[in-house]
Amino acid sequence: MSGRVIYSTTCIRCHGVKGKGDGQMKFTPPVADLTSPAVQGKLDARLFKSVHDGKQNTAMGAWREALTDDEIWDVLAYVRTLAPERTGGMGSGLR
Ligand code: HEC
Repeated sequence: MSGRVIYSTTCIRCHGVKGKGDGQMKFTPPVADLTSPAVQGKLDARLFKSVHDGKQNTAMGAWREALTDDEIWDVLAYVRTLAPERTGGMGSGLR
């Protein structure tokens, strides 16, 4: 499965089509904006850990049972394409 397919089947409902955290489901603490510097500025290994192990006390679950390591890397490669330089959406250029 490509990263894009994994994203749209498993992540999109919370993270939204463009990764802005505007999916259909809302949580406290809120869903991370995957296009934000706060996320894009993290190292691959750090993001891998967040997806693999989840984030404690948030809605971000651990995906290590549902996805193989390779699939997590694939979906993270897709998440990297959501960065503002590539999408050029409103708000890109903000630091
Ligand atoms: C049930 C809702 C939900 C789903 C499904 C979900 N996430 Fe998240 N995600 C969250 C929330 C909430 C946060 C913010 C966690 C926090 O406050 O640190 C988050 C945070 C993140 C972060 C930022 C982690 C960090 O270290 O800053 C990444 C990357 C991420 N999600 C990727 C994914 C990927 C990839 C998938 C699909 C495999 C996915 N998420 C599925 C709710 C979700």
